[in-house]
This record gives sequence, structure tokens and C-alpha cells, in this order.
Amino acid sequence: MPFRVPFVDPRAHYRALKPAIDAAITGCLSTGDLVYRRQLREFEEQFASVVGVRYAVGVNSGYHALHFSLLAAGVGPGDEVITVAHTFVATVSAIVHCGARPVLIDVGPDYNLDPDQLEQAVTPQTRAIVPVHLNGRICEMDRVMAVAERYGLAVVEDAAQAIGATYRGKVAGSFGLAGCFSFYPFKILGGFGDGGAVTTDDPKAARLASLLRYNGEDRQTGEYHYHGYTALLDNVQAAVLSVKLPYLSQWIAARREIAARYRQGLQEIRGLALPHFDEGHCVDIFQNYVIRTTARDALRAYLTDHGIETLVHWPKPMWEHRGLGLEPPHLPETERICREVLSLPLSVETTPEQVDQVVEAVRAFYGERVASPREGRA
Ligand SMILES: Cc1ncc(COP(=O)(O)O)c(C=O)c1O
Repeated sequence: MPFRVPFVDPRAHYRALKPAIDAAITGCLSTGDLVYRRQLREFEEQFASVVGVRYAVGVNSGYHALHFSLLAAGVGPGDEVITVAHTFVATVSAIVHCGARPVLIDVGPDYNLDPDQLEQAVTPQTRAIVPVHLNGRICEMDRVMAVAERYGLAVVEDAAQAIGATYRGKVAGSFGLAGCFSFYPFKILGGFGDGGAVTTDDPKAARLASLLRYNGEDRQTGEYHYHGYTALLDNVQAAVLSVKLPYLSQWIAARREIAARYRQGLQEIRGLALPHFDEGHCVDIFQNYVIRTTARDALRAYLTDHGIETLVHWPKPMWEHRGLGLEPPHLPETERICREVLSLPLSVETTPEQVDQVVEAVRAFYGERVASPREGRA
């Protein structure tokens, strides 16, 4: 049975921009512009300007953006890199693939790195910090940058979920040595397949990422400078992303309106925490609208039964996936979050009526729980 409120609706997303997207794709196909062509360079220039940095280097995924940025920061065997466990696995895998040890710290109430825990995680082996701007909210970057400066550490931002988010007016991906972005289809700026970018003001970091993504080859001279990777942002994806990029601020506004509507409808429910944190200095883009409750599993089952699709990012602490070989850290907040978070449907295509249906269902769930003699109030 299809959901009456799907988590996202990629078909509606495509329909809204179909003529321009079709033209961009057929333009590439008819001119044969398939690999490393004008469309890639143009998108990179536009994206760098949106982030407010000198360079954007298109790569084939957020993962590779992280991997190359960490290599640009000099991360290698014997080094430690501080990040969080409450993130997509790619953040940590990129550290491991550099031969370094991920040092995982806990998150605060906004699901982002807890700045109070940062300094005590620094050791003589620490080389870099990877703040993850989760769900479209930027970490406390003043605090992160202050610790990095004090200890001479590189900062590589995982901005995969925060395209266009700002902190004190500065855009995600413009704080540290490098910013790492994902254009996975369901990101606010998504391609029709995988894609990503490194953003930086540092010419050396930009050059390294440019070479590594193309098997180490300098396109001008044909010289191979490194053993690299096949990890270029696909030219057709770049053309599609250029069609979408001008809509970014409009889409951010639309997401923030949906979030405000959720807030309006849900804020009075006791036992339900909403993701509206201090907005004085941050503009969150709500890549995900994450609510939190100890009744998460029951609420999720109830919403599914009522035709509402939700997701859980993520149900199990990363270190419990044995295959990853991570030393189990003591991160009580991360553990609690895994049991309590639930992402509600939110995309530019989510209509106000659909938001109201979700709100109504969540309220009904809590009403039913209150009415149930066995369970009492949540
Ligand atoms: C926080 C975070 N980091 C890294 C990534 C990796 O991006 P990609 O899937 O493009 O490799 C993602 C993608 O979902 C992400 O959400």
C-alpha cells in the first residue's frame, strides 16, 4: 500500500522542473558532454559562490568529499580524528580509510557534536576534527574553531546534510579547511544519482581533491601525481545540479515553513521534543525534521498504520555494527537518541495538507495513549 504521506516524493520533484532538467540532460547527451566538461566547471563555480569559498571540486559522493578532504588535511596512519558516532557511517569510514583512528564523542540536545566534550578528546595524536552538521543544523562552530586553533588541528566539515545552512551568517562548508557535501537524491540539493563536492579556500586542498578524483591525473599535462580514484562528479549530474541550484534559497524557505507548521501543530504535546533549537545565530535548513520521544517505536508503528512514512536515523549506535570494528565508546546521549528519534516526512513537495495529516495522526496517537488505561500519559 502506498503511503498517503510519503517521506519524500522524487517523482513530484522531477515533474516540477521537468522541462529544464530534460533540456540539461539532452543537452549533454546531444553534444557528447559526458565527462569532465563545461557543465562540471560551471556548476563548481556556482556552488563555490553559494558557499562563499574560492573552490568547489565536484566528486562522486559525500563520502569521497570527506576522504579527499581528510587526505588534504594530512590525516594518515597513527593520527586520530575527532567526530561523532551519531552520523551517517560514511563520516567515520572516511577516517578509517585514511588509516586514522576515529575518536567518537557524544552529541548535545541538538544532535550535533557537544562542544563541551571536544577539548578533552584532544591528544598528541589528534590531527583533525570533523564536525557533522546533522539534519541541516550547523554545529557550534565558534567553539569548534577555537579548539582547533588552540591545538593546531584541521577542521573538515561534514556538511552533507546542511547545504545552504548558516551560522552567524556564514554558510556551512566555509569554516574549516574544507567542507564536504553530498548531492544524494534526497538531499535538499540532490542529483538523480550520487554526487558530492569539496569546498575550500585552500588552493592545495582543491588541487589534491581535483587530482585524486581523476585517478591522480593532471588533465593539463597528463602526469599522474598520485594513485587516485575514479571519483569525478558525473557531468550530466552537474548539469542537473546547475538547474536546481538557483532554487536553493526558495527550497530552504519552503522547508522552514513546513518545520514551522509542524511546530505549530505539535509543540503542546508533552513527552515529544521538537527540533527547534536556539535560532538566534543559526538558520537551519531542516534536511530532516527529527522529533524525539521515548514512545518512538509505538508512534512509528501507529503512523505507518495510518499511511505516514517515517524514517529512523539511526536505530543502532554505529559501534554496535560489529563489522565496522569500532571500539565501543561511552556515549550515553548517542545511545538514547538511537532509541528515541523519528524523522517525519519533509521535502519541498510535502504539502501543508500532508503536514496537517501527520500532525493530526501524531496528536491522535498521544490522545489514544492518554485514553488507554494501561499506558497513561507518555
Ligand atoms: C552526515 C552525512 N555524511 C556523509 C554522507 C555521505 O554522502 P554520500 O552518500 O553522498 O556518500 C551523508 C549522506 O547521507 C550524510 O548524511
